[in-house]
Amino acid sequence: MQITDRINQLRKEKNAIILAHYYQVPEIQDIADYVGDSLGLAQQAAQTKADMIVFAGVHFMAETAKILNPDKLVVLPDMEAGCSLAASAPEADFRAFVEQHPDHKVISYINCTAAVKTMSDVICTSGNAVQIVESFPKDAKLIFAPDKNLGAYINNITGRDMLLWDGTCEVHDILTTEAVIKLKTEYPDAKLIAHPECKAAVLQLADFVGSTTALLNFSKKDTTQQYIVATESGILHKMQQQSPEKEFIIVPADETCNCNDCPYMKMNTMEKLLSALENETPAIELPDDVIIKARKPIERMLEISAKMGLIK
Ligand code: 13P
Ligand code: SF4
Repeated sequence: MQITDRINQLRKEKNAIILAHYYQVPEIQDIADYVGDSLGLAQQAAQTKADMIVFAGVHFMAETAKILNPDKLVVLPDMEAGCSLAASAPEADFRAFVEQHPDHKVISYINCTAAVKTMSDVICTSGNAVQIVESFPKDAKLIFAPDKNLGAYINNITGRDMLLWDGTCEVHDILTTEAVIKLKTEYPDAKLIAHPECKAAVLQLADFVGSTTALLNFSKKDTTQQYIVATESGILHKMQQQSPEKEFIIVPADETCNCNDCPYMKMNTMEKLLSALENETPAIELPDDVIIKARKPIERMLEISAKMGLIK
């Protein structure tokens, strides 16, 4: 039996939903019930009636789905699929930092561990960070963690002075202005669209900055024919599907290829996805007290996002 047929058979038998991030390999995106950005994925996880969630993404995403669904089985095709941003904020170091600033509220980007979420007042994603930050009074003292690039970008947009944790996404932070300028010279009519996890110098050159979903929507509605894309290569699959007549050029991570792949996102394969669905492992497990504490700031994010019309 073909691998896709077996996945289709098992997902029905087990009442399973397959959630995939845009950075997954094309075959996984094509077989998923829902493909989206971190905000959309969290919302889908919060609303699903399925008995089992197969999360084709990285560990913090599957963990978020488990926190929202403690009684459901949540599997991640490869348990080693981590995230450099989440890893940049170890629990003990972050606790010490928060304790040093008792008068600060803590806004954490969803790309963090469940332990960091338990120490946060609210979670945000790149799709709602401005609105989440603006939900606090102008004079509120705020910590933003763990992505310093996204934090600096939001500080700039909102005129705030949030304290930033020193973390980065290794996939976005590696992109350079030199690589962008080289492509801009080669494609003078192209627009540069960038994810806010990129460095400030790259974002300053961009025509549009946004989450993966925002970049997709922009490239669909905008009338330009060529786009230089400063984010992970996986997004090109949907961009090209949505706008087959347009040309998308990824900003390469280095000289060796015309690509920029997240090594963690790309650990998931169709074979591992089938195995997770079939064997119901590797499954996400979390202590009850962590689930209870981490759930509050995620639910607060979903409430604010619904109020602002960012999700339905
Ligand atoms: P979004 O899809 O929420 O923009 O996040 C990008 C990312 O790096 C996910 O790990
Ligand atoms: Fe983490 Fe960056 Fe990979 Fe997203 S792209 S999972 S932020 S390392």
